[in-house]
Amino acid sequence: MSDKVPAVSRRVFLKLSGSGAASAAAAIGTAGFAAPAQAAQAEAGRTTLPYPRTSVANVASLKVNTPVTFNFPDASSPCALVKMGRAVPGGVGPEKDIVAYSTMCTHMGCPVAYDGSTRTFRCGCHYSVFDAELSGQMVCGQATENLPQVKLEIDANGAIIAAGVNGLIYGRQANVL
Ligand code: FES
Repeated sequence: MSDKVPAVSRRVFLKLSGSGAASAAAAIGTAGFAAPAQAAQAEAGRTTLPYPRTSVANVASLKVNTPVTFNFPDASSPCALVKMGRAVPGGVGPEKDIVAYSTMCTHMGCPVAYDGSTRTFRCGCHYSVFDAELSGQMVCGQATENLPQVKLEIDANGAIIAAGVNGLIYGRQANVL
């Protein structure tokens, strides 16, 4: 049996000690920044924006086929609520017939107006038409997107609460600024 210690060249020694130091530095670095990095990642993946919950009308005060206007989620975003008189997709209330939409046309942002005779929202700029009974579906015209539909809830007192928006409000990169 030999007492010889295996020879390690200077080059191999520096390589081994260098990678060990790098590993240690990486371990220290990730430990210090792990929590903020995870928080940032969670924020980036967030899909539900913090909408303000806003009371916009009361079930008892609505008349069928008569729009009520309000602003949501902020003062620069006009919307209209309509009690359709029959159950419709996304409708709330005892008859599941109350719906609301952004009233900024998805083509170029002109105001749309509710037409009770056809139960549609119509844009006077380039004549786009949106179906109030089918979640704001674009029926015809220059627009290519449906009207954003406001998510509504009813509280115990019959107050109608706007709590979110399905679809991007015209001119925005995010509905909540
Ligand atoms: S802005 Fe409404 S159709 Fe052009």
